[in-house]
Amino acid sequence: MPKKPYKPVFIFLDTDKHASPFDILTTIDVLPEAEILKYESVTVEDAEKLVYDAMFPRGPEGAKHTKIFINGHDFELANAILEKIRKCMFPPFELSILIDPRGAYTTASAAVAKTLELSMRKGFGTLENKTVAILAGTGPVGQTAAMLYASEEAKVVVSSRDLKRSALVAEKINAELKTEKVRGVEAKTLEEVGAAIKEAEIILSAGAAGVQLLPLNVLKEYGKKCRIVADINAIPPFGVESLDASADGKEIAPKIFGVGALAIGTFKNFIEAELIKRVAEASKGVFDYRTAYQIAKEAVSKKLEGEKGKTESWKNWLP
Ligand SMILES: NC(=O)c1ccc[n+]([C@@H]2O[C@H](COP(=O)([O-])OP(=O)(O)OC[C@H]3O[C@@H](n4cnc5c(N)ncnc54)[C@H](OP(=O)(O)O)[C@@H]3O)[C@@H](O)[C@H]2O)c1
Repeated sequence: MPKKPYKPVFIFLDTDKHASPFDILTTIDVLPEAEILKYESVTVEDAEKLVYDAMFPRGPEGAKHTKIFINGHDFELANAILEKIRKCMFPPFELSILIDPRGAYTTASAAVAKTLELSMRKGFGTLENKTVAILAGTGPVGQTAAMLYASEEAKVVVSSRDLKRSALVAEKINAELKTEKVRGVEAKTLEEVGAAIKEAEIILSAGAAGVQLLPLNVLKEYGKKCRIVADINAIPPFGVESLDASADGKEIAPKIFGVGALAIGTFKNFIEAELIKRVAEASKGVFDYRTAYQIAKEAVSKKLEGEKGKTESWKNWLP
């Protein structure tokens, strides 16, 4: 008897009032054959019930084609949902899970990998033992970037307007990675921002949309060791003065090369599409910031190896 063909179904569990059209549209473009179900304002308890209800109706074979996409601004809640639903599942009813809370994992992966790419291209080497300052690194994107830089053995300074918040981020990451590489600092004034970037070879501006964190004169005065500066805020004014959103390796001050938010955003879109494809192909498993960063690093190394046009460049990819 021929096998029953199962449609891929993506179930969006979003902690926000409205599920993100960004991720739904990306999923539809990557997998036009997929069916999308969305649930909004989802709590941990709701998620558990929804997942139990999704595990069984299609049987073990259908479960392989049923995917969960966890989303939402609330980073902690999204992760609490992940923990809960992982525990609900058991063989042979394990659904693949993608988690990317409002793009934080794919954006942070894109930002870290772009700075790695530029560092390699300019001959500064890998991220190991580099000092990295993440300005306003207390949001979902900044925290994830701090985790990725620390996983790469970089020394990371996370700034915040409130020392308690940056110290908490540092403590969480150091505990998770069993390291002492992440340090929180307070940076409310421009002098404090200067002190936060003083030792940094790489700066990532990870502040809220439309907030400038680093004026050019502060970068020039304090960033004597800085070689790479990246910004993820795509809404003017950008996070770093004089760093255009589309900059991709442009020298913005003597010996300081910049990567802007659109250059990072284009790469983020590529990473997300790849992540969705991998989740669709897998029969089970969790696809989180680790998978997103793995995709990003693979793309960067292929690009560096394939500069002569041997491989398809992510730059030519459009969602
Ligand atoms: N390029 C892309 O594809 C892409 C994708 C997703 C997100 N983004 C952008 O990435 C950035 C970070 O996202 P996120 O969700 O992690 O950010 P977020 O949580 O909104 O903000 C990050 C941090 O910015 C600081 N901040 C907030 N308002 C501020 C103000 N008025 N002045 C100074 N600092 C302020 C806060 O740190 P403290 O309170 O600790 O100081 C906050 O934790 C945003 O600009 C977002 O638009 C870009």
